[in-house]
Amino acid sequence: LISEVGTSIATAEAPYDAATRRSTTRRYLMCPPTHFDVTYSINPWMNPGKPVDQPIALAQWQRIHDQLVELGHTVDLIPPVPGLHDMVFAANGATVHGDRALVARFRHPERDAESAAYLDFFSSRGLQVRQASSANEGEGDYLTAGSWLLAGNGFRTDRRAHVESEQYFGRPVIGLTLVDDRYYHLDTALAALDEQTVMYYPAAFTPGSQAILRELFPSAIIASAEDAGAFGLNAVSDGRHVLMPTGATHLAAKLREAGFEPIGLDVSELLRAGGGVKCCTLELHGPAGG
Ligand code: ARG
Repeated sequence: LISEVGTSIATAEAPYDAATRRSTTRRYLMCPPTHFDVTYSINPWMNPGKPVDQPIALAQWQRIHDQLVELGHTVDLIPPVPGLHDMVFAANGATVHGDRALVARFRHPERDAESAAYLDFFSSRGLQVRQASSANEGEGDYLTAGSWLLAGNGFRTDRRAHVESEQYFGRPVIGLTLVDDRYYHLDTALAALDEQTVMYYPAAFTPGSQAILRELFPSAIIASAEDAGAFGLNAVSDGRHVLMPTGATHLAAKLREAGFEPIGLDVSELLRAGGGVKCCTLELHGPAGG
């Protein structure tokens, strides 16, 4: 927490006012890591040779869950399906705005069967549900910043899926192309902190996409290679609190300077599948804004 003295110094020197960083109450969907394991490799972080420590993974996941609840957010759970080792990464299951869910179509056959679980889950809740018609890995590649949908492509989500999302949600989609296979989903290279503010790692994007980001978000927080390597951009923000891996220390300091409140979490075991804080949480966005 920022002390009185710290606050006045920060507001005197910085163009933003720490007091304006307000959290809004959110609803998230998570999937317990009951069947989490690394038995195949579909991103450079995954090494099937090394077994996963299940109790540690569960404890790390539980900490993310409990932290969100402690901050006053609602966390719903989707039942884990045996044999689906990556289902703990709920962000990939769908994109949800209001009463509309666009369920994922996974790039790799190893994750294909997750879609059915999300289709069932959202239809049983009475949402309007559709499965994407081309590769689309849900909120792993679609991040909401104000009315924009920032949409990744390059490794997982197909560009054609961007058009479908724009039509389905009636929100403008900004396509961003990823170029570094360690940052294969948009949510590994960029995080939306509030409606106008994002943080990202420029080198994960094509020069053209970097230019779009500079133009749309002139006051973005820029992450270093070390911060990105610590999976620091795989973060969940409620507008004030930013849940992120403990290792991204420089990025945490920049967030603090900008009036946000970083909360460090250990995600080492989840990172062995190339996942972190954000990958484990799918935000169920309200009908407008958020
Ligand atoms: N092993 C998973 C995969 O490669 C990790 C998914 C991480 N999810 C995310 N939203 N970035 O598909």
